[in-house]
Amino acid sequence: MTTAIAHPNIALIKYWGKAPGPLNIPASPSLSITLDQLTTTTSVTTQSHDRFVLNGMEADDPKVAAWLTNLRTHLDIPGLSIETTNNFPTGAGLASSASGFAALITAINAHCKLGLDATACSSLARQGSGSAARSLFGGFVELRAPEWCATPLFDAAHWPLSVIIAVTDTGRKAISSSVGMERSRTTSPYYPAWITQTGVLFDEAREAIRLRNFSVLTRLSERSTLDMHALMLSSQPPLLYWNGVSVALMHRITALRESGVPVFFTIDAGPQIKAVCLPEAMDVVESALREVDGVRQLVRTKLGSGARVVND
Ligand code: DP6
Repeated sequence: MTTAIAHPNIALIKYWGKAPGPLNIPASPSLSITLDQLTTTTSVTTQSHDRFVLNGMEADDPKVAAWLTNLRTHLDIPGLSIETTNNFPTGAGLASSASGFAALITAINAHCKLGLDATACSSLARQGSGSAARSLFGGFVELRAPEWCATPLFDAAHWPLSVIIAVTDTGRKAISSSVGMERSRTTSPYYPAWITQTGVLFDEAREAIRLRNFSVLTRLSERSTLDMHALMLSSQPPLLYWNGVSVALMHRITALRESGVPVFFTIDAGPQIKAVCLPEAMDVVESALREVDGVRQLVRTKLGSGARVVND
């Protein structure tokens, strides 16, 4: 049995839209931070036919099944029993597919002695889920053309940002990212502008991170989040991932910042709000978010490392 762990990542410059064609290539670059508190643990053993167990329950995961079928066209992978556990809500906009595919390819690579490096694993993880490519690495990570495998930009020590995740709903999201992205690409009149704008924000955000300029990163990252949600809202039928508590939290974080606290929000395809702040602001941000009615759980985290094998 081989066990690997991986952490979810949160994009500061978002990926929402795929290039037409195979291999799940994103249509624009993205930039993320890898977290350390939330963890997916995945164990694989060889057996005659594939079996997938998610959080202790036998599950049918067509995305994983299709990904394995594709991998087996060029890699020697036997039947596998895959057991995977998340220490956080699955499929609720907390990037469980990112840490899931990153942990899985890391475990398979070691178990089947494929000899792939992290970059090759990142490419294969991307074919399962675009954001998963980024969870192979820790700290600040970019995913860009032309290779579309993730690259570590800076490690966590470069700028030890903190994140507080406010969970507002633990249910699974109604529309998956893949379906939502395709809907945006094919129906939103703003899609071409979103793709162009993301490229600009990406270049500026890399520079803001290099310079550790929190106020510039705040502007760029909130813009990427709100541009993406504007694109989602302009899709047909509209994609509205927020609930009332998400909106209340955005107002609270904006007010905190206006009072001088270094914090900004970022939101993925779900109703959870992630507050990114400088470490010294963590306690004040946490107590402010705790006061917002409807917040179910707060998770504090720092930046973490990439996917790795923990036993072999
Ligand atoms: C909003 O990586 O889940 O979290 O490639 O279809 O699996 P697929 O999509 P996925 O989409 C992530 C979308 C996002 C933004 C981001 O993480 O960049």
